[in-house]
Amino acid sequence: MLFLQWQMLQKYTWPYSDLLIKMGVISMWKQMKEDIAAIFERDPAARSTLEVVLTYAGLHAIWGYRISHKLWKSGWFTLARMVSQFTRFLTGIEIHPGARIGKQLFIDHGAGVVIGETCEIGDYVTIYQGVTLGGTGKEKGKRHPTVGNNVIIATGAKVLGSFKIGDNSKIGAGSVVLQEVPPNATVVGIPGKIVIQDGVRVGCDLDHVNLPDPVADMIRQMQRDIDRLRNELETLREDRKENERSIV
Ligand SMILES: CC(C)(COP(=O)(O)OP(=O)(O)OC[C@H]1O[C@@H](n2cnc3c(N)ncnc32)[C@H](O)[C@@H]1OP(=O)(O)O)[C@@H](O)C(=O)NCCC(=O)NCCS
Repeated sequence: MLFLQWQMLQKYTWPYSDLLIKMGVISMWKQMKEDIAAIFERDPAARSTLEVVLTYAGLHAIWGYRISHKLWKSGWFTLARMVSQFTRFLTGIEIHPGARIGKQLFIDHGAGVVIGETCEIGDYVTIYQGVTLGGTGKEKGKRHPTVGNNVIIATGAKVLGSFKIGDNSKIGAGSVVLQEVPPNATVVGIPGKIVIQDGVRVGCDLDHVNLPDPVADMIRQMQRDIDRLRNELETLREDRKENERSIV
């Protein structure tokens, strides 16, 4: 169906193709086709183009973002934010119009996804529901992450701060990532730790139940020192008593 639409578009717009290229209509159409292709490549549940176009909130959010980003770049900041908020109202996905997104981003399910203003996202990235690409506070300037190409950010993960997630990396479900991730790494946990790097398992304690308690460790060490000193004092007292007895 999409192929037919494409042929019709070419047939009827051919005389005006230069104008349409200048207006960016043809490149926009190409981008839309790529967005749909990305879904078929990465979601085994996708069955038909019609279903994808009508029911994928992630796709609607990306198309809404494209409009708001164009407005943002043209200086229509408030209108851009309004389009972005309206898209959020429809999809539950908030993409700031100032964010920079590469080709074939796939947002699966989508609800609760937040992508901040100074975020940069590379090509072929996959993001699941509940992901936040945000800042850590009220800092100004570049304050959101830069995500490389082919990155997967699993459901509920939070990536907070201005650092890079390297190409081909995976961020595990529910992780909170607060520092740079090298390329080809898998990061899991809170705070996020690298567990796989270039296909090799990295030694990492994933025991999230028995977390270390430095204060309790310090108190235990002090108690051991006090016991040792007490024993030494007791021995010295005994020695002194012995000496006094031998003098008498
Ligand atoms: C991060 C992820 C992509 C890693 O997959 P992987 O590269 O195959 O790595 P593994 O599954 O071998 O996991 C490596 C280690 O991390 C642990 N781990 C994996 N995901 C984890 C997570 N989200 N939180 C905590 N630990 C995790 C594994 O238990 C394993 O530990 P072990 O070495 O002690 O056994 C995957 O686990 C994940 O989180 N997928 C979520 C996908 C998603 O969001 N689906 C939603 C669909 S709606």
